[in-house]
Amino acid sequence: MDLSTRYLGLDLRSPLVASSGPFTGRIDRLRDLEDAGIAAVVLPSLFEEQVVHDEMQTTELFLMGEGGNPEATGYFPDLAAFETIADRYLRHLTEAKAALTVPVIASLNGSTPGGWTRYARLLQDAGADAIELNLYRVAADPTVSGADVEAEQLELVGMVRDAISIPLAVKVGSHYSAFAHMAEGLVAAGADGLVLFNRFYQPDLDAVTRKVIPAIELSSSSELRLPLRWTALLHGRIEASLAITTGVHTGVDVAKGLLAGADVTMMTSALLRYGPDHISLVEEELTSWAEQFGATAIGELRGSASHRNVSDPEAFERANYIGGLVDYANTFASTQGAGPW
Ligand SMILES: Cc1cc2nc3c(=O)[nH]c(=O)nc-3n(C[C@H](O)[C@H](O)[C@H](O)COP(=O)(O)O)c2cc1C
Repeated sequence: MDLSTRYLGLDLRSPLVASSGPFTGRIDRLRDLEDAGIAAVVLPSLFEEQVVHDEMQTTELFLMGEGGNPEATGYFPDLAAFETIADRYLRHLTEAKAALTVPVIASLNGSTPGGWTRYARLLQDAGADAIELNLYRVAADPTVSGADVEAEQLELVGMVRDAISIPLAVKVGSHYSAFAHMAEGLVAAGADGLVLFNRFYQPDLDAVTRKVIPAIELSSSSELRLPLRWTALLHGRIEASLAITTGVHTGVDVAKGLLAGADVTMMTSALLRYGPDHISLVEEELTSWAEQFGATAIGELRGSASHRNVSDPEAFERANYIGGLVDYANTFASTQGAGPW
């Protein structure tokens, strides 16, 4: 079975990619992933806040010696020995590139346009094969409209695009009122691919202590449905690679992603739960799924369940929605010994 695919212009041996997370933050684990057959890896994010904090600290270090006797060089901190988070990130990227043969995608994570975006260039110079820009943001300010948020995000994408010549993927959440339009805007601003979707971490509340409980829970396959639907809606309608993140755990999940039109599917929770060897299992499952259709390459099946040939996807979605509700109501009514209302 030819599992190969193309993502962001990169030729990959399969659609199985490790998404940004703790697993890709360690060189030994990255090697394990490659040994198990991963096709590409996305490193953990370098966050805008970390970069900005680094820069403030470096400025403070510079200023520490100010006013001291210039002959007393001991007053001055040794800036060369001061490793920032961004330095550490670049070191990890360089080491990952040296350790692996599969493409290494670096990740920047931020929400506001600004000088920090020049770090994209440093990641490129350190050997990243592509950059994934994560626009994670919870728009909580009542004075900021959806249009404002979108304009700012598009500006940010444009700034990163201008800073690099390697491919750029943009990872987003699904909370836009007209996501298809935003998707097109992201591509127009310079995204070569979209990664659907960020998982919004939902902290819980302790009812007694009234404290917020940060809750990072691993996903399950049922969460695949949201990115699956949007992949199916966008496939063939925008000029960009499509990656699915969230809810990919099994070979069948990957198969669904391909049918919807994804070029790659990404995993973090499954790797954290089952370890890197899980990759080979997923690959086997994917292969036997494709074999049952007599396919010799998974590319033959990509997008065959997308909405590409649906002339009015909005009406199609509403029809499915109404159909689902009506079916359920009819079944319920029959269990009550009554007809539909
Ligand atoms: C512990 C943890 C750390 C993560 N760190 C990052 C990160 O640094 N940057 C990022 O873009 N996504 C990060 N993610 C999100 C994952 O890349 C992925 O999009 C998300 O977990 C959904 O995929 P899954 O269902 O396969 O877990 C993280 C996820 C987890 C669980």
